[in-house]
Order: sequence, then C-alpha cells, then structure tokens
Amino acid sequence: MSDTAVKITTRPNGPFRVEGPITLINVDGQEIDLTGKPAVSLCRCGASVNKPFCDGTHSKIGFQAAEAAVAAEQK
Ligand code: FES
Repeated sequence: MSDTAVKITTRPNGPFRVEGPITLINVDGQEIDLTGKPAVSLCRCGASVNKPFCDGTHSKIGFQAAEAAVAAEQK
C-alpha cells in the first residue's frame, strides 16, 4: 500500500475506520474540516448523533452489521 492510499477497515458491528489522505464532503457540498485527524470512524449504523462520525452509539443499540446478521441466520 502506498503512503497516499486510503485504507478502509470495517469494524465488527461498528463503523468504517478510514485512514489516509481523505477529503470528506457533507450533503451541502462543504468540506468537513479534518485537520489533525489522520483517521476517522464513519457511522455505519445510522444512530450516531455526530454523523457522519461514529460516536459509539452502535454498541448501545446492539447494531449488527449485515454480514453478521446473515451469518447468524445461516446457523
Ligand atoms: S457505527 Fe458507531 S454510532 Fe453508528
């Protein structure tokens, strides 16, 4: 992986951890200031009150990511 590549890691039943030189644009087309943040965690459950960032609410609501839910149903 090069130094300029973006790395996205899926956290189990949690956010996407995004590392690398990223630009994050909100729905209004404005850039979100990520100064001093070499990595961010983006909410995947939809319940964060600090969207688009994860605030840990996923663990309080028992969020299960799709792949985990599918695996559980196959058992
Ligand atoms: S993934 Fe963490 S609050 Fe949504």
